Amino acid sequence: KPEFSILVIGGDGIGPEVTAEATALLDVISTHPKSRAAFKLLPRLFGGCSIDAHVGGPKWDGMRRGFEGPEGATLRLRDVTQVYANLRPCEYFAAGNSPLRDELVRGAKFIVLRENCGGPFYGPKEETPDYASDLWSYKRSEIERIARMAAHLALSSASPKKTVTSCDKANVLASSRLWRKVVQETIEKEFPEVEIVHQLADSATTLMMMRPTLFNGVILADNTFGDILSDLAGVIPGTLGVLPSACLAGIPAQKWGDNPVKGFYEPVHGSAPDIAGKGIANPIGAILSVALMLRYSFGMEEEAAAVEKAVNLTLGAGFRTKDMRGTTSTKDMGNLVREALQQLLDQ
Ligand code: NAD
Ligand code: IPM
Ligand code: MN
Repeated sequence: KPEFSILVIGGDGIGPEVTAEATALLDVISTHPKSRAAFKLLPRLFGGCSIDAHVGGPKWDGMRRGFEGPEGATLRLRDVTQVYANLRPCEYFAAGNSPLRDELVRGAKFIVLRENCGGPFYGPKEETPDYASDLWSYKRSEIERIARMAAHLALSSASPKKTVTSCDKANVLASSRLWRKVVQETIEKEFPEVEIVHQLADSATTLMMMRPTLFNGVILADNTFGDILSDLAGVIPGTLGVLPSACLAGIPAQKWGDNPVKGFYEPVHGSAPDIAGKGIANPIGAILSVALMLRYSFGMEEEAAAVEKAVNLTLGAGFRTKDMRGTTSTKDMGNLVREALQQLLDQ
């Protein structure tokens, strides 16, 4: 059976705590008698901990930001690997902790597809004490490739609704006007079965909170709007701690046996310095990111679905971390999901 090498980047703050629980699931899959693949884990330092290890001391803290700070590791990795598609699925969990009324969020299920390699994050920058700028620009080719990914995801979703809701500020920004035009042209021409809705990004935020099921399908947005909309989506399950993400440089694997698709997988949340080291971080975002890796890189749909089911069973049994108003620790949550996964694989 094939052995896949996985680079494991715990990063800073709660990163190593949640990553340990996520990667431990891969051992459950690797060692199961019915397993069709093995995973070799290669841990590496990344971000602030790597700056500390190689430059010495936490002197970067609060001093260097952007490409020169701890965030630079993530930003550069996205750029050098050209993982232009950042898939950030969001789903309402009945066993969750949403501050929104149940009848409003029940059934909400969408993927925020964030363009991951362009816009003001990567445009030329100027920074002086009296003036600063970030160029917010997009090329037609960058919009075409992400529009194709959006249509592909809409078509491959289980839901009967094949809708892409594209969010922009075409009423103000020139880059958004190109965005809207190219999204419309590309999807209309190449994927006529897909319904396209254009929505201004500012009003999309209220709509997402008032009528989240309107967005079921794929929400397509550029780097900046996608960053904001994907964190906002955390209100639907009630915590950022459960949201996973996939960063891909091409269309995902469709089935087992397809060539593995390179990508990287991380929770949407950050290093959460306010709760780091306490053993209370929610590992579900990281665990569900492993499910996305199994599905999108390796075409291991059954294993991915088993991980997702194990999470739902564990939450359904009443176990929650503190962000979901529970008392279960990071490690216990990881153990419980692993036990549930083991049982599912044994069946
Ligand atoms: P954050 O996502 O780290 O935290 C926001 C809030 O959500 C905090 O209150 C935190 O405690 C809570 N939270 C996040 N993840 C959680 C989890 N798994 N379990 C329970 N609670 C959780 O965002 P921030 O505070 O704005 O940023 C902190 C640092 O993380 C910054 O340096 C930022 O640049 C970085 N960051 C990195 C990434 C990445 O590498 N992909 C993503 C986002 C933020
Ligand atoms: C995210 C984060 C990153 C981003 C930062 C840490 C560079 O907020 O992954 O959403 O802005 O993309
Ligand atoms: Mn973000």
